[in-house]
Amino acid sequence: MSSTDLSTTYLGLELVSPLVASSSPLTGKVDSALRLEEAGAGAIVLPSLFQEQIEHEELELARLHDFGAESYSEASGYMPELQAYNTGPGGYLRLVERMRAALEIPVLASLNGISKEGWERHAKLIESAGANAIELNIVHVPTDPSLTAENVENLYTEQVATVTQAVEIPVSVKVGANLSAPVNFATKIRDAGAAGLVLFNRFLEPDIDLETMDVVPRLELSRPSEMRMPLRWIAILSCRSDLSLAATGGAHGAEDALKLILAGADVVMVASAAILHGPSFLSDTLTEMRTWIEEHEFQSVTQMKGSMNHENCPNPAGFERLNYMKALMSYSSPSP
Ligand SMILES: Cc1cc2nc3c(=O)[nH]c(=O)nc-3n(C[C@H](O)[C@H](O)[C@H](O)COP(=O)(O)O)c2cc1C
Repeated sequence: MSSTDLSTTYLGLELVSPLVASSSPLTGKVDSALRLEEAGAGAIVLPSLFQEQIEHEELELARLHDFGAESYSEASGYMPELQAYNTGPGGYLRLVERMRAALEIPVLASLNGISKEGWERHAKLIESAGANAIELNIVHVPTDPSLTAENVENLYTEQVATVTQAVEIPVSVKVGANLSAPVNFATKIRDAGAAGLVLFNRFLEPDIDLETMDVVPRLELSRPSEMRMPLRWIAILSCRSDLSLAATGGAHGAEDALKLILAGADVVMVASAAILHGPSFLSDTLTEMRTWIEEHEFQSVTQMKGSMNHENCPNPAGFERLNYMKALMSYSSPSP
């Protein structure tokens, strides 16, 4: 029996393992969530409830109360499909309750959007339904040329403050990698009450269909090399911020997860690999991680956490500009 301790702390929650099942269809059904728990997931993050669904519901409520809300949002047409993905606002609360009743591990709810409308009420309802934490997935596409980077960051922090002031449970923030100053941003959301940062949200970039001449969505699963972007920023943030740090994007095996923890991640989130290989991906990965940890004479995940972050690694410049130059120099072009 191995004595290696795989437990970790994330958002103040004690988790049995550092692998967290990230928001995806796998975490939206009780039976697959149970399989993820059996395979060793430390926690699960439910599929997101979208701002558009909350706004739609608020409009419906206004209409019911005869406030004459006539507006029709672009997203209204997608409501039935979104409902099938995450059960819709009312169903979402029942999903939180059912997951909480079925699972031993923490259940994190996820809110996705940028507007503040309805979020306070929904965050409170989600908390009452039993969620252990809320992950805010902030997605904003700033097309207005008068909006500065600071304006956009302020929108983010106002959103975070709205939710953190509404609930007692911890709130984490999932953002994309296109921030000019991630370390400063981490300080701002910490001040707004956030307990953690999830790096990085994958923006599902649109495509153009050349036949239908339409803008179409294109969801592709991640590739392992994507984990190197969160790796760098987790290594940098881990010695500069007391926020809990979750890595998401490109963790496809034990090696990826170990590197992210060495860089300072409190948890490593997995979606694509669990979808590709099924929930047993988590148990296989944990077995391999345990073997590596033992062979390298660490006692626990907590002990190894951050031991290769920007401050502790032997070559800090490797996380900075020097890496760029070295990477270019190390590339030898294949013969034509
Ligand atoms: C099919 C699918 C559905 C997803 N749904 C959500 C979602 O509802 N909310 C969210 O924040 N992230 C969602 N994600 C993103 C994942 O949670 C994760 O952050 C991303 O896929 C990167 O991690 P990975 O490399 O392990 O897949 C989804 C990903 C996939 C593949």
